[in-house]
This record gives sequence, C-alpha cells and structure tokens, in this order.
Amino acid sequence: MRILAIETSCDETAVCILESADGASFRILGNALLSQAEKHAAFGGVFPNLAKREHQQNLVPILTEALREAGMLVPRREPLAGACEHELEHILSREPELKTLLLEFLRAYDAPAVDCIAVTHGPGLEPALWVGINFAKALARAWSTPIVPVNHMEGHILASLVEMRNGNLEKRQSSYPAIALLVSGGHTELQLVKKIGEYELLGRTRDDAAGECFDKCARLMGLPYPGGPQISRLAAEARAHKLPPTFALPRPMIDSPDLDFSFSGLKTAVRRTLEKHGALSEDETRALAREVEDAIIDVLIKKTLRAAEARGAETVIVGGGVSANARLRERLSASFREASPRGEVLFPAAGLSTDNAIMIAIAGYFAATQEKTAEPETVRAVGNLQLA
Ligand code: KG4
Ligand code: ZN
Repeated sequence: MRILAIETSCDETAVCILESADGASFRILGNALLSQAEKHAAFGGVFPNLAKREHQQNLVPILTEALREAGMLVPRREPLAGACEHELEHILSREPELKTLLLEFLRAYDAPAVDCIAVTHGPGLEPALWVGINFAKALARAWSTPIVPVNHMEGHILASLVEMRNGNLEKRQSSYPAIALLVSGGHTELQLVKKIGEYELLGRTRDDAAGECFDKCARLMGLPYPGGPQISRLAAEARAHKLPPTFALPRPMIDSPDLDFSFSGLKTAVRRTLEKHGALSEDETRALAREVEDAIIDVLIKKTLRAAEARGAETVIVGGGVSANARLRERLSASFREASPRGEVLFPAAGLSTDNAIMIAIAGYFAATQEKTAEPETVRAVGNLQLA
C-alpha cells in the first residue's frame, strides 16, 4: 500500500509518500517538510492565523518536492476536467491562495499512484488543521483516492514503534499492553496501548503541557521559542560545569495517587523566583534551567513508572516533541530498567520526534488496513481530538 500523508496541525507543513506491503517495513519514497517555527518565534508561540496562511502557501511546494523525490511527478496528459475544477473551487473556497496554487499544480501533473491520503484531523490548531484537511479533500477528489483521518498523537506513538534500518523504517518488537507517555507543546498524557489503534486514557495534565511548561519557563527567562531545546542545552551546561544547586522548584502532583499532571504551578514558581532574585548571571540561568528540566522530568518519570506498574506494562513508548530531550531519555530508560528488568523504553526513530508527515503516514497505514477510511465530507478538524 502506498500512502500520501499530510500534516498541518501546528507550525510544520509536511507531506510524505510511504510504502508498505506488510506493516513491518516502511519505505519512504518522498518526504518534505517546512517549519514555520522561526516565523512564530517573533510572537513567542504559535500564532494560528499565521500558521493557516503559511500552510496555504507551503502545501503545494512541499507536495511537489515530496512527489519529485519519489519520482512520481508526471506531466499531465489530458486536461483537468472542468467539473473537477469546479468542485475543487468549492472544496477550497476558504483557502483561496491554496486553491490557486493547487489548480495550477493539478493542471500540470497527473494523479500519482497512491492508494490513500492520510491527513491529520486533530488534535491541533483548528485553522491550521482545516488547511491540511481541505487540501486532502481536494486531492482525494482530483485523484479519486480515499481519505484516512489520523490522530496526530497516534502518529507520535507510531514514530516510536519504528526504527531506521538500512534506509527503511522497520517496526520494532514491543509487548502489549504498553504505556505511552505523550509529551508535546499541547499534550501531556499517559495512554494504555492495548494494541495499535486501541488506547485507554490513564492520566493527563490538568493545565499546561510539559512542552508548554518548557516554553513558558524559557520565555520568562528571556530565552527564544521553542524553549525546550534552549532549557535543555543550558541544563546540560550546568551539569557539565557542576554548578551548585542555587534554586529549588516544586514537583507538582508528584505524590498524588492518580496519573494526572499539573505544570502551571512550576511556571509560576519560576516567575516568583525571577522576581525575587532579580537579573540572573549566566551561570544562574544555567542552574535555573537545570532545575526546571529536572522538575519536569522527575514528575514525568514518577507517573510513567506508576502507570507501567499498575498495568503490568513492560514497554514504555515516549512520543511528542519533548521526547527529544536527552535527559528525559537517559533518566527514564535507566529508571524503567531498574524498576522492570525486562522493560524497554522506546523513543522516536531519528528525526521523527518533532512533527512530521512520516508518522502520520504510518498511522494512516494501520488505520487504512483496519478499514478506518472516511467519506471526505465527514472529515473535520477537531482541535481537542482525543485518542481515547
Ligand atoms: O510535538 P511537537 O513538535 O509539537 C506539538 O505538537 O506541540 O512538540 C513541540 C514541543 C515544544 O514545546 C518544544 O519546546 C518541545 O516540544 N521540545 C523539547 C525539546 N525539543 C522540543 N522540550 C524539551 N527538550 C527538548 N530537547
Ligand atoms: Zn506533535
């Protein structure tokens, strides 16, 4: 099966074409991604209407690039049917810029040989999601291809269930039930993975997400967006220089008996610390970054281990942007190995920890084989779409 996947839930515009015969090995035929992060950095976060405008401008160039890499960009032999053009005008009536670019593209190139179009329909920023969804609907109409809507968080789980071997993504061994720790800019949740496609929500944040906490603390400290990598870099410097522990931050809800999280108090504690302390020296900034990182990670680890123990899980799957954090990787792996000798912690395959279309294509593959294709008219953006 050959899948074309589209991801526009946040500030990355991404398209890929992926092929798999068996759900065990996945070949990336073409893959293109454009991050708008720098454009949003000026606003200190992701700005939904800017994301919508950027996705409109970027989708066709990104699609063209992915198809060209796949060798699937074939000049059109017969003109695009008038009836089709008319329907596309309607499907993309809310995305005029995208409509112009896509019509130009479709007049130039033939339908590629893909079996289905996977598109993220949530969770994420609705104005951004809609651009990808309407683009998918337009392509599905022009190419007579089915659509499979994909949950972005399921994509993050699948990104950790594969690894790159000899240039292909191969499915890894994993035991079920597994615990998925999903940590991104918008999410922090623990899911029980009964199998691919079957989940149960075990706990979630009651306020800010872990990535959001990294970003907000970084902003308070005068660091650019996204803050996670910045804090992580400074924290590593603090450890390398063995700086003394100057600051002490709370570990919110670490001892609560449930599997929920709360991170907004941590941000408030950082604000108070900065107010009390005044301007920080470079080393103090490093020491504070280390304390922020440790506080977030301590809580994530404690709750993940508790979930694994409660459900007898021997596999922990970590997904979402924060899974790129080196300290989290190191400490969670070590703690889980200690708690569960046969246990294994899976992190995303190289390059797949932040948003991308490959993870959407893999999730799309499993959804399509489980016959989860949808009538195009029924596909909608759902900003707070739940996995379970
Ligand atoms: O999954 P993602 O790319 O986008 C969302 O769906 O939110 O996650 C982005 C989040 C941001 O909050 C960013 O600060 C965080 O992931 N992040 C990190 C690191 N790299 C990205 N947080 C901590 N350490 C990192 N190395
Ligand atoms: Zn994400």
